[in-house]
Amino acid sequence: MPKPKVFVTRIIPTKGLDIVQEFCEAEVWPGEMPPSPEELLRRVRGVDGILSLLTDRIDAAVMDAAGPGLKVISNHAVGFDNVDVAAATARRIPVGNTPGILTDATADMAFALLLAAARRLAEGAQYVKDGKWKTWGPSLLLGADLAGATLGLVGFGRIGQAVAKRAQGFDLRIIYHDPTAEPAFGAVPVDFETLLRDSDFISLHVPLTDETYHLINAETLAKMKPTAVLVNTSRGGVVDPSALEQALRSRRIFAAALDVTEPEPIQMDDPLLALDNCLIVPHLGSASKQTRDMMAYLAAQNLVAGLKGERLPHCVNPEVYS
Ligand code: GLV
Repeated sequence: MPKPKVFVTRIIPTKGLDIVQEFCEAEVWPGEMPPSPEELLRRVRGVDGILSLLTDRIDAAVMDAAGPGLKVISNHAVGFDNVDVAAATARRIPVGNTPGILTDATADMAFALLLAAARRLAEGAQYVKDGKWKTWGPSLLLGADLAGATLGLVGFGRIGQAVAKRAQGFDLRIIYHDPTAEPAFGAVPVDFETLLRDSDFISLHVPLTDETYHLINAETLAKMKPTAVLVNTSRGGVVDPSALEQALRSRRIFAAALDVTEPEPIQMDDPLLALDNCLIVPHLGSASKQTRDMMAYLAAQNLVAGLKGERLPHCVNPEVYS
C-alpha cells in the first residue's frame, strides 16, 4: 500500500514531523521563508494532504491544484484566517487547527506586552543601551500602574480568559466584550462602547473575520482614554495600522504593544516602528519550545486522521462530517 502524499509548507518541530514522515510520503519545504504562492500551487499537485502554516494562503486555487484526492488541510496554528474554510467545506475537506495547547503561552505573551508597555520596558532598555542613564530620576520614564486599573478584553474565549486569570493576580478590574461568552475569572461583561471608554488596558482576543477587520480604527481609538494601552496578540488585521500610528503619535492613547501587525512582517519603513510608545515583536505568542512541539504534534495528528478518513481531533469545519 503506497503511503499518502503530503506537502508540509515548512520544517516543523520533530515532535510532529516524525509522525508525518512515518505515515506519509512527505515533501517538506526546506526554506526559512514560506513557498511563494506559485511554488505552493506547484508543490501541492496531486497531494492527499497539506500541512500549512499561518503564513500560507490556502485558497480554492490551492485546493484545486491539489486536485480531487485532497483529503485534509491541517493548519499549524489555532487561527485559520489563512485558509478559505468555506472553499474547503464546499469540497468536503476537513480543516484542522491546534487549539488549547497555546492558550497559556499566548496569554503569557499578552501579559508580558501589557506589562512592558505599561512600564515602558523597551524604552528603558534602549535608554540604557544609548548611554543615557546618568542618574536615578524622579520623573524618568514614568509608566502606568496595573493595580486598581481596568483591563478590557475584546473577545473572551480560551486566551482572553487565560489573560483574565493572570490579571486577577495583578488586582486589575476586568471587563470583557464577547456576546458568546459567560463571565469567568471575575470578569464582567460590558458592551463594546463601555469597554472602549472605561479600560486602561485593552487586549484583543478575537479571530480575524470580516466583522473584526479594523475593529480598532480611528473611531474606536478616539473613544479610548488618553492613558489607554492597547495590546494585540490576535491578528494584525484587527487594528487599522495608520489610525493606530496617528493615535500614538498624537498621544491620543498612551502606548501600544503588538505581537501581530498588518502586514506581516511589518515593513521597515512603517511609521509605527519610529514611535517610542509602540512596542512590536514578531508574532511570538505561541513561541515557547513546549508549545511549538505540541502544535506540531497536534497538526500531525490532524493530518494523519484526515488521511485515514477519521474525524480530525480538532476540526474547524465539522459540518463536513454531516
Ligand atoms: C498563532 O497566531 C496561531 O494562530 O496559532
